[in-house]
Amino acid sequence: MDRFEIRGGRPLQGSVRASGSKNSVLALMASSILCDGDVVLGNVPRVRDLSTMIEILGALGVPAYWERENTLRIEAGEPRKVEAPYDLVRTMRASFMVLGPLLARCGRARVSLPGGCAIGARPVDQHLKGLEALGAKVDLTRGYVEARAERLRGARIPFDLPTVNGTQNVLMAACLAEGESRIENAAIEPEVGELIRVLTAMGAQIEGAGTDCLEVVGVSRLSGVEHQVAGDRIEAGTLLVAGAITRGEIEVTGIEPAQLRAVLDKLEGAGLDLEIGPDRVRLRYVGRIGGTRIKTAPFPGFPTDMQAQIMALLTLADEPSFVTETIFENRFMHVLELQRMGADIALDGRCAVIRGVRELQGAPVMATDLRASACLVLAGLAARGETNVLRVYHIDRGYDRIEEKLRELGGRIRRIRA
Ligand code: EPU
Repeated sequence: MDRFEIRGGRPLQGSVRASGSKNSVLALMASSILCDGDVVLGNVPRVRDLSTMIEILGALGVPAYWERENTLRIEAGEPRKVEAPYDLVRTMRASFMVLGPLLARCGRARVSLPGGCAIGARPVDQHLKGLEALGAKVDLTRGYVEARAERLRGARIPFDLPTVNGTQNVLMAACLAEGESRIENAAIEPEVGELIRVLTAMGAQIEGAGTDCLEVVGVSRLSGVEHQVAGDRIEAGTLLVAGAITRGEIEVTGIEPAQLRAVLDKLEGAGLDLEIGPDRVRLRYVGRIGGTRIKTAPFPGFPTDMQAQIMALLTLADEPSFVTETIFENRFMHVLELQRMGADIALDGRCAVIRGVRELQGAPVMATDLRASACLVLAGLAARGETNVLRVYHIDRGYDRIEEKLRELGGRIRRIRA
């Protein structure tokens, strides 16, 4: 497995463009199962999770391929197969999002249960509850979810908690159901909004975008669409923290700053100077990093996907900070690795108390999930001496050429191929 060799201590400087949102594209690719005609997505990042989704669509008989560097074409039509196999689903939980579209389109679907995950249990009960409300008969057999319904029927779906992929899964199914559906307590993350825009362009009838109550009038068919994917708010946030932690000055373009509001507020609160434009944010270190309190929450709260990265920054703050993770129960794996780099962090259940240290020291480190690995890259960029981040495989799942982007900003980071 590849690793990153990082020599820390150099302030990052310059401008960088965020790639398109990986998590948006995952849902948009699943939505192609619903329609006839090509779905062409532009500004798509070249990341491993999307290659996995291409393989899953391929296994269903829906051809998907890179037409240009960042353009993905999906030749959507009736899937020839309705099974998403364990070998693919276990490598990426988001594959479970093909369940709703397959069921709505083909009347049946067989999708492996995703199984364990490094950051928490991550059950899929809400996805299943929603599909059952739409009239699906759902069985669990030998690790697979088997769902059937001659035709789904519109229904009221009150989610017990807001779930991003659960909302997307059930929303996609409701678009082809007969009659009206009402999804309550829906997730309002920007990736849900982007899916609604694309489904609407395909011909779906959805009201309530941006709110937690979605009303859908089912239609009998959807057609292909062309769409430019929005910038990745989490990648953008990660790059901004890279600027902050190295005491640099950087600009990130190609994003909607409103989607990053909670992160920007915390960076400003910690003493970073920000200039916010319509599609860009400029960040400047102005002499200190202060402490802060962070509690992850569904959108528009502080995103769990930025918790590890901001913690790397807070290890160098001149006041104590408090970070509470409320979304996933096991998302502190970066803490032990940061401690190995000299960070002072005390964990108490879902809370971390971080007392800033003068400097981090380079060390060999590794993590078992995407954002924790990104946090270690950030720590390495700030640390004294050399850091080796092992298992870059995790970063490659969701960050498009992160080492090249950081190098363009002046970071001393290189990939050592295994
Ligand atoms: N949950 C349930 N039952 C369900 C579904 C979710 O209890 O049926 C719980 C989860 O266990 C969790 C909470 O609900 O405690 C929220 O999870 P959610 O379903 O919203 O997460 P997700 O849809 O599986 C997406 C992103 C994650 C991101 C979360 C939260 C994708 C592909 N993944 O996951 O992204 O952390 O929303 O914003 O969109 C990442 O990119 O690194 C990543 C993990």
